[in-house]
Amino acid sequence: MPPEADPRARAIAVFDSGVGGLTVLAALRRRLPREDLVYLGDTARVPYGTRSPQVVTRYALNNARFLGGFSPKLLVVACNTVSAVALPALEAALTVPVLGVVEPGAAAAAALRGGHVGVIGTAGTIRSGAYQAALGRVAPGVRVTAAACPLFVPLAEEGWTAGEIPVRVAHRYLDGLVASGIDTLVLGCTHYPLLRAPIAQVVGPRVRLVDSAEAVAEAAGARLSRDGLARGEGAGADRMFVTDLGGDFGALARAFLGRPIPPPEVVDIS
Ligand code: DGL
Repeated sequence: MPPEADPRARAIAVFDSGVGGLTVLAALRRRLPREDLVYLGDTARVPYGTRSPQVVTRYALNNARFLGGFSPKLLVVACNTVSAVALPALEAALTVPVLGVVEPGAAAAAALRGGHVGVIGTAGTIRSGAYQAALGRVAPGVRVTAAACPLFVPLAEEGWTAGEIPVRVAHRYLDGLVASGIDTLVLGCTHYPLLRAPIAQVVGPRVRLVDSAEAVAEAAGARLSRDGLARGEGAGADRMFVTDLGGDFGALARAFLGRPIPPPEVVDIS
C-alpha cells in the first residue's frame, strides 16, 4: 500500500487482543472525528493476559508489522497487557510513534486525587507492576492495591456484560478491594469498560472508576497536534481487521460502539 503523500492524511493504527480495544477506538472516534482509524483485533490469539511477556511481545510485534502496511502516523496500543510489557520492544522496532494506555490511565487516576487507588487488570498487567510503577511516578505517596480479574476478558469477548453472572464474578474479584477502602478504581484492561455496569454495581458509588480510553484519545490528539499531523478536514473512516472470526466480532463491535461499522476483514498475520 503506497503511503499517503500528505502525512496528515495517514491513518491512526490501533490494536488489541480482541474486542477490548474497541473502547479505545470509540474514544478516538469521538475525540478525533476527522482521522482514519485502522483497527486490528487479534481474536485468533486472545487472551494475552494469561501469557508470558515474551509471547505477548511477539504477538504485539506481529500486529504492529501488519498495521505498518498502512503507513500509519501513530500506533495506539489499545491493550494494557501489551502496554505493560512490550512498549519498549515496539518503540525499538518501529519508526512510527507508539502510544500505550498505562501512562494515560495512571495520569487520569492521579488527577482524581484519591488516597487509595485500586487497579484491576489481566494477570500479566498486574504481575508486571506497570500501573503500580506509573502511579508511583505521577501520584507519589498514594496507596495502590492491585488485583487480577482473569474471567472478565472471556465474559466481555462473549458479550456477557450484564446480569447475574458478571455481577457474581465481579463480587468475587472486587469485594476484597472494596473492603480494603479504595476510593478510585482503574479499569486497567481495555475489555473492562464493557463490564462497567456490573463493576460499578459491585464497588458502589463512592469508588470512582477510571477508564484510560478517554485519556489515551486525549493523548493521541495532543501528540498529533504537537507533531503537526492532525487532519484538518473531512470525516474519518474506520477499517476493521481480525485474525479470526470464530465469534461474532461484528455484532459485538456494533453493540459496543453503538453504531454501524464496516464488516471486519479476516487476516492471517502469523
Ligand atoms: N484488552 C487487553 C488489555 O487491556 C487484553 C486482554 C487479554 O487479551 O487478556 O489488557
